[in-house]
Amino acid sequence: MEAEWNALNRAIERGKMAVVTGLRRYGKTSLIMTYLNESKVKYVYIDCRLLPPTVSLSSFESLLEEELAKIRWGRNLLENIRSVELQFGGIGVRAAKKSEANVLRVLKALEGSVLVVDEAQVLRMSAYRFDSLLAYMFDNLDVKMIISGSEVGLLYRFLRLEDPEAPLYGRAYSEVRMGPLAREKAREFLVRGFEQNHVKLDEQAIEDALEKFDGVIGWLTYFGCPATVGGASVEKIYDMASALAVNELKKALKLYANGEPRYREALKTIATLGSASWSEVKRGVEARLGSITDSAVSNVLKNLVDSGFVKKDTDKYVIADPVLRHGVLARL
Ligand SMILES: Nc1ncnc2c1ncn2[C@@H]1O[C@H](COP(=O)(O)OP(=O)(O)OP(=O)(O)O)[C@@H](O)[C@H]1O
Ligand SMILES: [Mg+2]
Repeated sequence: MEAEWNALNRAIERGKMAVVTGLRRYGKTSLIMTYLNESKVKYVYIDCRLLPPTVSLSSFESLLEEELAKIRWGRNLLENIRSVELQFGGIGVRAAKKSEANVLRVLKALEGSVLVVDEAQVLRMSAYRFDSLLAYMFDNLDVKMIISGSEVGLLYRFLRLEDPEAPLYGRAYSEVRMGPLAREKAREFLVRGFEQNHVKLDEQAIEDALEKFDGVIGWLTYFGCPATVGGASVEKIYDMASALAVNELKKALKLYANGEPRYREALKTIATLGSASWSEVKRGVEARLGSITDSAVSNVLKNLVDSGFVKKDTDKYVIADPVLRHGVLARL
């Protein structure tokens, strides 16, 4: 990931905000953590997936403080803030306002460090405008930000960096986009991993794994671990991986409540056909669920693309992750 490492380094050295994007298991979090640890900068990392389904400012504040409490300089920082709070108190200030003042105080104390907000698209599920908070930080605080997310379309829908009406509009940022490894790199990753563990895997098993797991580094690792210990076939690990991917998908689809069956049928149609046009998706959904409007079909597809489950290749839709495709066919 040398190119991505360098891009992130440039973005943070020269600018104030980097947006690291890529589908699930492409290695975003690993890249960010490796970069920050190697470059020895002070940072605090928050994973918004740990927030409750409806995010509030106070749940964000708690998570930020929990993460700070894990690191030594963070604990000092929190203690300093608390001693100031004790002196000046917040008596009489409304709870919501108080919460905002608290968060701002903590963020202000982060000056000189890097704040990582991973899976930031989750912050869109809130009555509180977290995009305004990020814009405020960008404009007023000496804190660099690394924003990341696997649901890339949803992340950009949250940040709205190109929307003149949005708080973050016009702020300079660099995007570091991660993709799957090219076939040869993926092969090298597996071969070297097995060598390091003194395991010899036959050529056919490696070819088979590359075919099934594509160049998704998280899946290659998922495959490499049990394969190193021995005993599990490529097919078996592939099956376990696809079960995991489908479980994640099912969890994500719950968001659509009564609309969920449409998402399922759209995914099944796309997975079955391999790649499907808009009309084929519409026909596939209608065959199972009855008539559906054009705008509903477009909406389902837009949400599936924005969440990273589906991608659009020219004018056809495909399941973005081959492991998920297998899971959709076998288990959804
Ligand atoms: N450069 C790398 N070298 C070795 N292993 C890696 C590398 N990048 C990622 N991995 C492995 O792949 C797994 C998935 O990577 P990571 O969690 O960083 O991806 P992600 O894009 O953040 O995924 P998600 O969207 O699920 O959060 C990691 O647990 C790690 O084992
Ligand atoms: Mg991650």
